Amino acid sequence: MTNVTMIAAVGRNGVIGDGSTMLWHIPEDLKFFKRTTMGHPMIMGRRTFETMGVLPGRRSIVVTRQPDWAHPGVETAHSLAEALSLAGPADEVFIVGGGEVYREAMPYAARLVITEVDQAPDGSVTFPEIDGEQWQETDREDRDGFSWVTYARR
Ligand SMILES: NC(=O)c1ccc[n+]([C@@H]2O[C@H](COP(=O)([O-])OP(=O)(O)OC[C@H]3O[C@@H](n4cnc5c(N)ncnc54)[C@H](OP(=O)(O)O)[C@@H]3O)[C@@H](O)[C@H]2O)c1
Repeated sequence: MTNVTMIAAVGRNGVIGDGSTMLWHIPEDLKFFKRTTMGHPMIMGRRTFETMGVLPGRRSIVVTRQPDWAHPGVETAHSLAEALSLAGPADEVFIVGGGEVYREAMPYAARLVITEVDQAPDGSVTFPEIDGEQWQETDREDRDGFSWVTYARR
């Protein structure tokens, strides 16, 4: 069984994006993202891929409903189930966004790795609610302007 982890940087107001630009620039968090996901397959929505591009050292599995969509250096899936099956068994797979894909993948996730950013930017794309009845905070590291918080499914 694949371990599914969702990783996201989330504002105080739940906002993760405005559809185009990066909402904040936190180099330390980009490094955290890199070392956390390195060597593991990543699953992302096609819109997130368009903003992120191909990242080295990790398989990128992009979900799209477009039958002919393809991009060099990425694997394409047409459903979340297909993406998880492509990622393969007995590995940790990271769901890296965006909003639509986080919502669909939440039921599959065992762990959430959240950078809680101490900002409340405008933006229409949000992270799904982290329900305290289902998720327990297991680790927290407070930094200047943000915290790295891990949740495990209860
Ligand atoms: N702060 C963070 O940590 C973080 C992380 C990632 C992304 N983001 C932000 O999130 C925003 C993008 O999120 P979004 O919600 O707009 O889009 P998204 O989730 O990245 O991608 C949505 C697209 O994925 C495909 N898709 C979704 N579910 C599918 C399914 N079940 N089967 C097949 N294809 C599926 C569709 O692609 P097609 O249209 O090609 O069919 C859909 O349009 C951006 O603003 C980005 O910057 C923030």
